[in-house]
Amino acid sequence: MTAMLLNGKELAKKRRSEIKTQVGRLKEMGITPGLAVVLVGENLASVTYVRSKEKACHEVGIYSEVIRLPETITEEELLQVIEELNRREEIDGILVQLPLPSHIREQVVINRIAVEKDVDGFTPVNQGKLLLNEKGLFPCTPLGIIDLLKETGQSIAGKHAVVIGRSNIVGKPVSLLLLHQHATVTMAHSRTVGLKQIAREADILVAAMGQAKKITSDYIKPGAIVIDVGINRDENGKLVGDVDFEAVCEVAGCITPVPGGVGPMTITMLLQNTLQASLWNHHVELAGRIDG
Ligand code: GUN
Repeated sequence: MTAMLLNGKELAKKRRSEIKTQVGRLKEMGITPGLAVVLVGENLASVTYVRSKEKACHEVGIYSEVIRLPETITEEELLQVIEELNRREEIDGILVQLPLPSHIREQVVINRIAVEKDVDGFTPVNQGKLLLNEKGLFPCTPLGIIDLLKETGQSIAGKHAVVIGRSNIVGKPVSLLLLHQHATVTMAHSRTVGLKQIAREADILVAAMGQAKKITSDYIKPGAIVIDVGINRDENGKLVGDVDFEAVCEVAGCITPVPGGVGPMTITMLLQNTLQASLWNHHVELAGRIDG
């Protein structure tokens, strides 16, 4: 069997075009959604991510502003920057690019972001809303994964989803979103005993543990949907996921490639969250698709 490819690049393009239309309608009403991205220091990966976020905003007509701050900034100074962004009306979304330098406590900084501008969905209030299945802003990678799963045309309800990885950014929130879609969810992680046997039970397998090509074909139930969240470099510097793509393709029913799977959906969901925040902040409702 050769698995069907779940093309994140293509779906992201479609979603960005829908977001652009919605942003256009909002602009006709005199409202431009705005995103502020805070970048501390010059971590190479972070600089690249932030550039991609800026470009994506520009493409759909969202106003974006990058606040570049020196590595030496104090936690208190950074908190003042966040406070100022919380106050500014033209800014609907605030994203603090992680990781932060080690002298700054990330959760203290995140906690200072106004809940209604928290387009990463990292504040405790939004994480709590996710737990309770209330309306809120939720982490982008998990939202992108659910969108990709819906694109398979298969129902999530009743399926056994196994999530490998328990981070606050991916593993925990995607488990909750899957649960809210009525999947039966198993959360596995680095300390799980018998991981292979558990993974083989999965109708939907989400690999988000950050180990290059760890998931080989013997972890896969024939026909399963495999979502690869990993971004790793192999020994030749090539971008690879947590899944051994070529081998798993022979067993899985559907699979996301790396690159071109989950990655493009993450930034797309950031755009969607910024649009959503703007709509809520301005008490505007638009007809048509926002979050499926
Ligand atoms: N660094 C790596 N991924 C992310 C993300 O999704 N959001 C933020 N703010 N920083 C990141």
